[in-house]
Amino acid sequence: MMRHTRVRLLIAIAVVATALGAGLAGHGAQRAAAAGCPWMDKHKSANVRAHELVKAMTLDQKIAELYGRGDFTHYGAANDIPAVPELCIPELVFNDAGAGVADGQQFTTAFPDGIAQAASWDRVMQHRVGAAIGWEAWHKGIDVQLAPGVDIARNPLNGRNFEYAGEDPYLSGQTGVAQIKGIQSQHVAATVKHYALNDQELDRMTDSSDANERTMQEIHLPAYEAAVKQGHVGSVMCAYNRINGVYACQNRYLLRHVLDKQFGFKGWVMSDWGGTHSTVKAANNGLDQEQDIGSGKYFSDPLKTAVQQHKVSVKTLNQMVLRVMRPLFRIGVFDNPPPTQPDASKADVNTPQEKDIALDAAEGGSVLLKNSQGALPIQGTGKSIAVIGNPASPTGAQNYYQGGGSSKVPIAGPNASVIDPLQGITSRAQADGDTVTYSDGSSTADAAAAAAAADVAIVVAGDNSSEGVDRESLSMSNRTCTLFGCTPSSGATPDELIAAVAAANPNTIVVLQTGYPVTMPWLGSVKSVLETWYPGEQEGNAIAALLFGDVNPSGKLPYTFPKKLSDSPIHSKKQYPGVTRQGGVPHSIYSEHMLVGYRWYDAKHITPLFPFGFGLSYTTFSYSHMHVHGTTKHATVTFRVTNTGARTGAEVPQLYVIDPAAAHEPPKQLKGYTKVLLNAGQSTTVTLHLNKRSFAYWNVKKQGWRVAPGCYGIRVGGSSAKLPLHGRVCRT
Ligand code: BGC
Repeated sequence: MMRHTRVRLLIAIAVVATALGAGLAGHGAQRAAAAGCPWMDKHKSANVRAHELVKAMTLDQKIAELYGRGDFTHYGAANDIPAVPELCIPELVFNDAGAGVADGQQFTTAFPDGIAQAASWDRVMQHRVGAAIGWEAWHKGIDVQLAPGVDIARNPLNGRNFEYAGEDPYLSGQTGVAQIKGIQSQHVAATVKHYALNDQELDRMTDSSDANERTMQEIHLPAYEAAVKQGHVGSVMCAYNRINGVYACQNRYLLRHVLDKQFGFKGWVMSDWGGTHSTVKAANNGLDQEQDIGSGKYFSDPLKTAVQQHKVSVKTLNQMVLRVMRPLFRIGVFDNPPPTQPDASKADVNTPQEKDIALDAAEGGSVLLKNSQGALPIQGTGKSIAVIGNPASPTGAQNYYQGGGSSKVPIAGPNASVIDPLQGITSRAQADGDTVTYSDGSSTADAAAAAAAADVAIVVAGDNSSEGVDRESLSMSNRTCTLFGCTPSSGATPDELIAAVAAANPNTIVVLQTGYPVTMPWLGSVKSVLETWYPGEQEGNAIAALLFGDVNPSGKLPYTFPKKLSDSPIHSKKQYPGVTRQGGVPHSIYSEHMLVGYRWYDAKHITPLFPFGFGLSYTTFSYSHMHVHGTTKHATVTFRVTNTGARTGAEVPQLYVIDPAAAHEPPKQLKGYTKVLLNAGQSTTVTLHLNKRSFAYWNVKKQGWRVAPGCYGIRVGGSSAKLPLHGRVCRT
């Protein structure tokens, strides 16, 4: 049984509840307008209101909005800027991140991480999660949420891949847009990050990502463009790293040229925490707000002095403040400010409704990678099931429900808990009259014995990951990591454990919990593999529902899983970890150019372990009746998808474009997708629209997008490696 209807209803209730709260706050705003803040008049546009406010501000008041205080008197915030009651400016409270309200906040919900959200390929789901996070944030007194992350997963070893949305610019952009719209629907500003090319944690404060312009424009920047142009994101967080030798937070090309001029961004750029490196240079090159754990090293008094000395013009200063205020008016932060601290931090927003959304998202983002002989779903009654592996246990689950670092949502509060896999599977198994045993896997002999004694063995195997640390290889490791480093544990590795269990029981099912691709040396000897990523606090319930077939898996891979690291686009030291150049600065050379992810494997004819866009279901789908109309200015692609199996299931039809050789593009590129839910035997006609940009390449000489002459192949199907429908579109 799918849960979609129930969840929609719950969201509707949550939105109405928020609207009620917002309405009350609105009265306060009107009173303030009467009391001398003319910019609180909602009838005026956000732009006019922001201009009026900036005009009324003193120099000190302006400077005060441009740096976080690093004042943690508020329970659970990444930063704050105090309210200015005489100007009707609400306090600004900044909070991490994309998988729930974190930074030590209690009583909030741990949703699946960004990569799991992306793996649903479901814009409705992503919007729903965004709205749920925005709703919680607002009630916790937060006005700026530091999410979503949309960096492209260029490097499979990047320790923060779990916070991002995979390897494809179009998928990352669309995922980010849905999340942003969800968050901002709750009068909380979203922050897209980390702009840009923030692709490794090693040397994260100093490394330079060196890429040519076309690579940046076509691969690494379009997700930000979508966030700005389609998502209307309030804020952009510039990254720690350098780009082509220049720190992201004072990089004129990225901030002024691309973000402002090319994308038309009208919101504000904040630095990552400690990512500001200068006053005059940063302000003049496009940084609007300094964020740090300390209090405004560059943008407090030094900025005031720089303005007084005319090194930063008043015009630039006004623009900086305007850029902060304009989206706050537009998104409704002024008119619907959240409840104030310290009371707000006491709100319990880990409600049953929010838990249901977390569950739905965990189910929708899980990807079934292998299922031989219909081993899943688990059926019949009275079976014995051996659950194996530390991540399945209550203590182990603490390390795998989410990745570590600033985005990790703590489990704290009267209603807070992680439903661990053992708990979820045990309670679901009881309904079928099954018995469940547990072995933590610290001894492979004990685990094998438990597996041998059972009808089915389920190994839950994870690879823990955290902000601040990269991975050492594509293998799952035994270490647990935090922002401050990793602790190795002894005993068998996850790969050794799975191999031992598979040797003892032919019905072995592997549940993976990773934030990125891993190798699977045991793949040939297990029946099924379900990748659940870091699935959030409801993980046990989601895993049980998927394994027992109450919910049909429908996620697709947002990354290619290579067979080995040397097959991947990042296979040389100069690409990663990089080479040290002048002044001791490490540089990572993006010599793979546009061949990131599946673009690389296609171009080099390397067969991966699992291709981008791949994911199985308990039913099957067929594709037929494709019609392509139009030209490269606008084309419409229609086709039929049929559920040819015996169960209800959701499919993700994907559309890839093959450019003519003259364009010198990667072999094929994702340009459209949707997700459809079909009953057994049901068909639907899908229409996907393509526009000029779907066919365009970045022309460096012309400094713009151009469409090469010729005809473009259209391929449609349910995985990048299986695209049965073929058509074409030509430039007229
Ligand atoms: C992270 C950001 C985060 C910020 C505030 C930084 O270390 O890179 O992603 O938003 O801290 O917590």
